[in-house]
Amino acid sequence: MKPINVGLLGIGTVGGGTFTVLKRNEEEITRRAGRPIRITAVADKNLELAKSVAGEGVRLTDDAFSIVTDPEIDIVVELIGGYGVAKELVLKAIENGKHVVTANKALLAVHGNEIFAAAQKKGVMVAFEAAVAGGIPIIKALREGLSANRIQWLAGIINGTTNFILSEMRDKGLPFAEVLKEAQALGYAEADPTFDIEGVDAAHKATLMASIAFGVPVQFDKAYVEGISKLDGVDIKYAEQLGYRIKLLGIARRRPQGIELRVHPTLIPEKRLIANVEGAMNAVLVQGDAVGATLYYGKGAGAEPTASAVIADLVDVTRLHTSDPEHRVPHLAFQPDQITELPMLPIDEVETSYYLRLRVDDKPGVLADVTRILADQSISIDAMLQREPEEGESQTDIIILTHLTIEKNMNAAIAKVESLESVTGKVTRLRLENL
Ligand code: HSE
Repeated sequence: MKPINVGLLGIGTVGGGTFTVLKRNEEEITRRAGRPIRITAVADKNLELAKSVAGEGVRLTDDAFSIVTDPEIDIVVELIGGYGVAKELVLKAIENGKHVVTANKALLAVHGNEIFAAAQKKGVMVAFEAAVAGGIPIIKALREGLSANRIQWLAGIINGTTNFILSEMRDKGLPFAEVLKEAQALGYAEADPTFDIEGVDAAHKATLMASIAFGVPVQFDKAYVEGISKLDGVDIKYAEQLGYRIKLLGIARRRPQGIELRVHPTLIPEKRLIANVEGAMNAVLVQGDAVGATLYYGKGAGAEPTASAVIADLVDVTRLHTSDPEHRVPHLAFQPDQITELPMLPIDEVETSYYLRLRVDDKPGVLADVTRILADQSISIDAMLQREPEEGESQTDIIILTHLTIEKNMNAAIAKVESLESVTGKVTRLRLENL
């Protein structure tokens, strides 16, 4: 059987893992794919590194464009990342009739509509299992396994760096800045960790999942993105006392008015399985109308877990290489002419429950004033906690959990609460999902 020829762009951690796994499981992978999958060319700026990973018999180059235009290459694997040259290379590969396998969530979340349209026109596949939750086959599950369902919502821990930081903050009672340094020393967080800690990486992944779940165009610019850099350890403790854990969740929910797409620190009941996903692990919970809740758990990063997803895509593309493009699984799960323009709801219109922490004077009537303001906005209280003031302390913390309300009502209530004389400083607000 003639092998299918793969050109690899970028030979970092995941590229190395892809070589290792393809070699180790060569026989099984060939039995599944129907023909051997061979990486025959590699482009990387670091040719020495490429040589040490790829070994003999592989064409090495520092000119990635020579691979995407090479007539011998059937599939291009893009592992460069980012929106810059990676976009040019992917579009060039498509223009040259090559299928593309990519782990680049940023590229697809921002430019996916253009890339999928180009691929559709050219009759090639763009596969991206490795772009979301590393080794967890969540794209396959959403796009194929759950295709009988009207998907109602999904919620995922889809950034391992932030989940590691939150786990350490809770376990060791350490502040965010200190744990971030530890995460960097352990190699979890990048030297510039902004995309991870500010929720951008999770929002890229949530954007892709939302499109596949609901059949809407990729719309990263409409996502609400809030990270964990401002999270105070005291809120992790209070949440725990109330029976909740705080996780950075990527949430996509279908509502009659449109779709919610948001990433933010979220309180979730500690008894939920997903609340117990610790360290750098990932998990995605998907609610379908027929199947109910399904949970997918595994490693969201790392050489071999991500290679597992890259190679699964290579096997899929190899199997379907000669098939009629009309009969392949559509890129965004729904047929291209069935992608709908449901509105993405602004954060003001999101419906969720809340955790509020207020610093208040410990004197009669304060609580009555606060609860009156919430009642005036039709916000119902679910639970409350008042810290006992220390000896001689005239102020204390009040924690309030609410039932579901619309964010703009909560904003109005918070503004009024902050204007009370007996309330000091800003109200800390976190969102809460019962899942
Ligand atoms: N930086 C990501 C994370 C891994 O921390 O989960 C790659 O998507």
